[in-house]
Amino acid sequence: MASTKPCRNKVQGKVAIVTGGASGIGEAAVLAFAENGARAVVIADIQDEKGRNLAESIGTNRSTYVHCNVTDENQVKSLVESTVQLYGHLDIIFCNAGVASFGKQTVLDLDLDLYDKLFAVNVRGTAACLKHAARAMVEGGVKGSIICTSSAAASLAGARFTDYLMSKSGVVALMKCASYQLGEHGIRVNCVSPGPVATPLACKTFKMGVEEVEAAFEPSYYMKGVMKPKHIADAVLFLASDDSEFVTGHDLLVDGGFNFLGIPK
Ligand SMILES: NC(=O)c1ccc[n+]([C@@H]2O[C@H](COP(=O)([O-])OP(=O)(O)OC[C@H]3O[C@@H](n4cnc5c(N)ncnc54)[C@H](O)[C@@H]3O)[C@@H](O)[C@H]2O)c1
Repeated sequence: MASTKPCRNKVQGKVAIVTGGASGIGEAAVLAFAENGARAVVIADIQDEKGRNLAESIGTNRSTYVHCNVTDENQVKSLVESTVQLYGHLDIIFCNAGVASFGKQTVLDLDLDLYDKLFAVNVRGTAACLKHAARAMVEGGVKGSIICTSSAAASLAGARFTDYLMSKSGVVALMKCASYQLGEHGIRVNCVSPGPVATPLACKTFKMGVEEVEAAFEPSYYMKGVMKPKHIADAVLFLASDDSEFVTGHDLLVDGGFNFLGIPK
């Protein structure tokens, strides 16, 4: 009889990097990779204590923490190089590190220094991670999978957070160019675009606790219930695994129908 148990080895033997892996969506992806047979998961972040604790909870034989500020290309380069040196090659990178707007950032009051600060992480940082991971995959002859975090908000108009929405549209454009250019090497590049989920980033942005954020957004999901980081990690796992072996250039919304503009019943 066929087993109805979910497959727990979707990334068996793979070597993965997760940027922004110490917290929220990245942390959930780190755990999903580890639970699904990854040979190694490298957690790259600037929150050293959280990152180290997470690596230790998985086991230092299968997970390591690397301090890496994605705004610094040299740190990104050495993150990728040290991963390849330690584990032989790189199969997966989840370019997920990101920050929210550092203010309201309406068009009329757009603070361009804050805009630069945000773009340095969300766009330049993602591009640096994608570039160096792709180089390592090409050099190693690895038909790898690259996943970037955009946002369900990237396709919406916003009354505020202009720079954040712009940055996440930029990530989708980067993913599309990369998937087009890297396909000939067998490398797939996709995005995951989460709807609102109560991570530390969302709690800080909306100045609320986890339960308050969840209660505030629950009516906005078309699906019943509350979205959790694990829902996004499951989509990342799909894009990282061979289950999506012919999926590239795709922006996968994981938002419980948050973005529906349906005709009401
Ligand atoms: N939470 C949401 O509602 C939501 C919705 C859509 C998209 N996102 C995106 O999801 C991604 C993950 O965010 P999250 O919600 O899990 O937030 P989070 O704050 O829990 O996690 C983000 C992680 O990125 C790290 N980080 C920030 N700047 C960095 C840098 N310069 N270098 C390396 N690491 C850095 C942080 O230390 C943190 O661990 C972000 O790209 C965010 O924009 C979040």
